[in-house]
Amino acid sequence: MKILAIETSCDETAVTVLEAEGDEASADFVVRGNALLSQIDIHREYGGVFPAIAKREHAKNLVPLLAASLEEAELLCGSTRSLPDGLDAKLGKLLEREPELHAALMEFFKESEVPEIDVIAVTRGPGLEPALWVGVNFARALAIAWQKPVVPVSHMEGHILSSLVTKTEAGYRLSNVELPLLALLISGGHTELVVMNEWLSYELVGQTRDDAIGEAYDKVARMMNLPYPGGPEVSKLAERDREDVRTNPFSLPRPMLDAQNCDFSFSGLKTAVMYLLKSHGELSEIDKEQLARAFEDTVAEVLVKKTERAISETGARTLAIGGGVSANVNIRREFIKHIENERPDVTLCIPSVELTGDNAIMIGIAGFYRALRKEFGDVETLHANGNLSLT
Ligand code: KG4
Ligand code: ZN
Repeated sequence: MKILAIETSCDETAVTVLEAEGDEASADFVVRGNALLSQIDIHREYGGVFPAIAKREHAKNLVPLLAASLEEAELLCGSTRSLPDGLDAKLGKLLEREPELHAALMEFFKESEVPEIDVIAVTRGPGLEPALWVGVNFARALAIAWQKPVVPVSHMEGHILSSLVTKTEAGYRLSNVELPLLALLISGGHTELVVMNEWLSYELVGQTRDDAIGEAYDKVARMMNLPYPGGPEVSKLAERDREDVRTNPFSLPRPMLDAQNCDFSFSGLKTAVMYLLKSHGELSEIDKEQLARAFEDTVAEVLVKKTERAISETGARTLAIGGGVSANVNIRREFIKHIENERPDVTLCIPSVELTGDNAIMIGIAGFYRALRKEFGDVETLHANGNLSLT
């Protein structure tokens, strides 16, 4: 199955051609073409992602990225074909709010043959609704013009499945996942624990009651005058502190650590950092490193403790960690240590670093499984859903 996968849920625009072979028991994936453009440099000026700007950038970049991805996959063939009657008007209506995207797409259709792909996979949610809509409408337009099926995908399922693959010589393989699987999803918009008792069916075990973990990282970073996105910056500072043996003067509360559930809360932690900064005044470089370290240690302790509780409650045999924050070296290290020491019978799955951030490879992988089940969307009615839930 050749899948054209599209991701536009936040500030990354990505188009991938993924070739998949196999079934639910075992599948191999080869990335034939992969084009990704991050908007981080644009959003950095504002200290966060602006939905309207994200939307505009996706609309501008989707056609060039599509062409680049198809070209890399050797699926881009020139053409001088005339387009079917009514296509221009139909897509004009569909892309009413994205006139430049409509114009670029019509130009692209005129110049190129219908590529040999089997299905179009697109992120339907969750994420920033205006950003999602661009991707969804783009996928619908391709599906109409090329007469191909479209499969809507959950961004969070993409994060989970991309943590389950192992690398092979040609690409990635996903097989033999022992259930129940517990997934810890940690990103800019999510902090949740979900259990998969049956393949691709999810139940919520716990979630944040306020801020998501990536959000807490980004807000703390902003308070410390670090650039956006703050996660990697806080991490770098904390890692520097770990190189030295020093007593950390900062201590932060461990929110909800003893509550008898698997929920999280990070807004109190963020507020504690704010008060600490107020009372402390100017931070030296060492102060910054130590504060980042105190924040990271607290976060990792809470994540490990709550996940451990969820493993007990669900009887999980596999633990998958996914989402942008799963790139964090300290979180990865603490989970590896915990599972090795306390849960040697549980298999820990962490995505390889190139799959931790938002990308379209993970959307292609999730799209493959949904397409196997023939869960195609209706091009006329398919819509984006910023709050799409896995459960
Ligand atoms: O999954 P993702 O790319 O986008 C969403 O779907 O939200 O996650 C982005 C989040 C941001 O908050 C970013 O600061 C955080 O992931 N992040 C990190 C690291 N790399 C990215 N947080 C901590 N440590 C990192 N190394
Ligand atoms: Zn994400």
